[in-house]
Amino acid sequence: MTKYLQFNDEDLHIAGEIVRKGGLVAFPTETVYGLGANALDPEAVKSIYVAKGRPSDNPLIVHIYDKSQLNEIASRISEDAEKVVSALMPGSITVVFPKKSVIDDCVTGGLNTVAVRMPSSKEALAFLKSCNVPVAAPSANTSTRPSPTTWQAVKEDMDGRIDALLMGSDCKVGIESTVLDLTGDEPLVLRPGIVTPKEISQVLGKPVRVVTNPKEKVNSPGVRYKHYAPRCPMVLNLDGNRDKIRSFYDKCVKDGYNPVILTRHPEGYPDCNTCFLGATDREVAHNLFLLLRRCEKQYDYIIASYNGDDEVAFSILNRITKSAGQNIL
Ligand code: TXA
Ligand code: MG
Repeated sequence: MTKYLQFNDEDLHIAGEIVRKGGLVAFPTETVYGLGANALDPEAVKSIYVAKGRPSDNPLIVHIYDKSQLNEIASRISEDAEKVVSALMPGSITVVFPKKSVIDDCVTGGLNTVAVRMPSSKEALAFLKSCNVPVAAPSANTSTRPSPTTWQAVKEDMDGRIDALLMGSDCKVGIESTVLDLTGDEPLVLRPGIVTPKEISQVLGKPVRVVTNPKEKVNSPGVRYKHYAPRCPMVLNLDGNRDKIRSFYDKCVKDGYNPVILTRHPEGYPDCNTCFLGATDREVAHNLFLLLRRCEKQYDYIIASYNGDDEVAFSILNRITKSAGQNIL
């Protein structure tokens, strides 16, 4: 049985107790909901992989509420890392450090590094404080599903599989944190997010490279797996060609589907099921996973149309392309 907890002192205390005793608690952050366990308890961490159905070589992010906890888990904090920690944490960024041995291999998928994040969400910080141990947490979805951005989405995937769910606010950002690796010769963004390479580069005073080919950096195993996929077929259009989209829609209908077009076009498509993605890239990021989960319930074919070329758009494209399983129209 999963306990449904509120954000009050009593329930936060219960959530912290559950984590310290080796249980699993889902909690909100400003990016997406996380599924937390005591990062210092290997048995608890292993149960995360079971609850999610996640491959065990895909490492987890360790969450903290106070920067002083970094010294417990990172064996070295480089000058660059100092700069990023002081300028961008707390926030929607995760930084990879060399790890200390208190962090077991099951947290890091056998890597000698550990990814650390201090969220900015007040609710997340209150939960982490109540745990008072570093908390290993992936996104709180079943493996391959879109990340959850509301507690209801966590419930859909995790009801009965975890000890408790903190019913907090909807996530403001909507896509996962930027993962920044500072352990090598050059700063590398392993997963793009809302904190952009440009911002990081300004903080560091040097260029930051975005790893676009997952084969290049085996150090971030997460990027290899099927990800963010809705339950129904999905196709992605990148050129905004309305005739092409419209005729694909008509073909779906002819084939017996009840399709929907996910679009940024304010007028949508006449006589078609349409769902508005958002007016700005920040809005699209906020809505994307939420809408994929909504559309898979109402329709049975998702035709998404998206383009954009700034850095936030790049992060959205990274997610939406995977949702569509590289299925490009
Ligand atoms: O916004 C977020 O980051 C959310 C919230 C809950 O904090 N968490 C999240 O976790 O998205 P998850 O497990 O879904 O994704 C973690 C990503 C994966 O791509 C993983 O490969 C990478 O971080 N990662 C974790 N530890 C790493 C390490 N030591 N080196 C390189 N990449 C690592
Ligand atoms: Mg995830």
